[in-house]
Amino acid sequence: MRTILAAVLLCSAVAGAVTSAALAAEPSPELIAYGKTLVEAGDCAGCHTADPARPFAGGKRIDTPFGAIYAPNLTPDRETGIGAWADADFTRALRAGIAPDGSNYYPAFPYPYFTRMTKDDTLAIRAYLGTLAPVVSRNKPPELRWPFGYRGLMRIWNAMYFKPGLYEPDQSQSAAWNRGGYLVTGLSHCGACHTPKNYFGADKTAQALSGNAVGGWYAPRLDGAARTGLKSWSAEDIAEYLQSGRNARSHAGGPMAEVVVNSTAKMSDADVRAIALYLKNLPPARRETLVTPPDEAEMKAGQAVYAKLCVACHEADGTGSPRIYPPLPGNALLQSVNPSSTLRIILDGAHTVTTPRAPNTGEMPGYAKQLSDDEIAAVTNYIRNSWGNAGPMVTPAQVAKARKEER
Ligand code: HEC
Ligand code: HEC
Ligand code: HEC
Repeated sequence: MRTILAAVLLCSAVAGAVTSAALAAEPSPELIAYGKTLVEAGDCAGCHTADPARPFAGGKRIDTPFGAIYAPNLTPDRETGIGAWADADFTRALRAGIAPDGSNYYPAFPYPYFTRMTKDDTLAIRAYLGTLAPVVSRNKPPELRWPFGYRGLMRIWNAMYFKPGLYEPDQSQSAAWNRGGYLVTGLSHCGACHTPKNYFGADKTAQALSGNAVGGWYAPRLDGAARTGLKSWSAEDIAEYLQSGRNARSHAGGPMAEVVVNSTAKMSDADVRAIALYLKNLPPARRETLVTPPDEAEMKAGQAVYAKLCVACHEADGTGSPRIYPPLPGNALLQSVNPSSTLRIILDGAHTVTTPRAPNTGEMPGYAKQLSDDEIAAVTNYIRNSWGNAGPMVTPAQVAKARKEER
């Protein structure tokens, strides 16, 4: 147990030694550099940077099913940022979801994941944030629906759903697997998007990482489900996707494109491989949905649209051109129960995300103007149910609804 813990948290142990030595003095460059890697792995900028010219100054609007909330200013400004906070205030905010004045945060701030972090890691993050330029930017109050505006309610929420505590390494697994677990279930909070939520917005922990709707998109299953999960992906496929935003099976779009650019593309090879290893060992958290194939008329209508507009890039047999035009046969995201991500891409088109490892761009036109709800439903049903694929029927009403969602 001790060896594994030591190995998993090796980096934090090193940082810890540096932290204690540095408490009185300025933090060391090593500690600050280490803190920066954690800030990237936790994608703090993804929520706390609204304006790239004022990094971490907050103000970004986060939409939740309960209303909107604005991420606060994390720069060291003493009045409007966190410059006047004690280190213990910072650690308590991240690991317990409690503000310096004792009030509760909302879980739109992923403290239910950050609680898995070691204290030393939180202090390394604090050391890095302390080196930012202070920006004067006043925090905006949340705009939540009644009764959620009352922060005291979060005490009840925490009592019911929040499981505070450090990441507990699994002794039967390797140090790399446990490092992956520390990132996925903690700092990198993958489940914040990929785990289904209950009525109160809390993770359905028994169905961890088995797919979830997020802001007009669908974050697909990351467990070992054969058709709609990562069973058909190798650990190398997962690592390549996280580092370059694409692989021979799929491309990252929407919110995942942002996660790749801000966070996973900046991670070390070892961390990305650790995540891949952890995900490859996840058994399916629930059964695949049974699919009734669309009738012949629907398939014909869809094929007509596909033959006219899509074959130029994706080919008649759907194979496309790996890393340029993603292949559609066997595509897990395409066959997901929830078609939201597929509909977004067909309606709005897509620019392939660019990363240092894969800088070339790709382009798919959007078809929102050109195609009717019936035609988009038909072509979606066709690609979800051709070449051995199987995905539940999409109705024109679902397309109409997707048109109204924000991009
Ligand atoms: C998914 C969006 C999201 C991510 C990612 C995120 N935060 Fe936040 N954070 C928020 C929101 C929203 C709040 C405000 C919560 C509230 O008001 O109840 C917040 C609050 C905070 C606070 C309290 C600040 C204050 O003034 O009270 C701290 C500290 C903080 N975050 C640090 C971090 C760090 C460090 C990271 C990266 C490791 C991070 N956050 C990642 C959304 C996020
Ligand atoms: C902000 C929400 C969000 C977060 C956080 C997030 N994801 Fe995603 N993820 C998505 C969405 C949405 C998609 C679908 C992307 C698309 O439409 O191309 C996706 C797709 C993926 C895919 C591709 C699966 C497939 O079958 O195509 C992988 C792999 C993945 N995410 C891994 C991760 C990992 C690992 C983490 C944590 C380090 C993570 N994601 C964090 C939203 C998120
Ligand atoms: C000009 C070339 C082009 C045409 C025409 C085109 N696509 Fe695409 N398609 C792409 C590219 C490039 C991507 C990758 C986008 C990205 O990186 O997010 C893509 C992605 C997709 C995806 C997401 C697959 C994944 O795993 O990320 C689907 C589904 C899709 N296209 C369906 C269609 C359909 C249906 C049509 C016709 C109505 C069509 N495409 C027409 C180039 C094209």
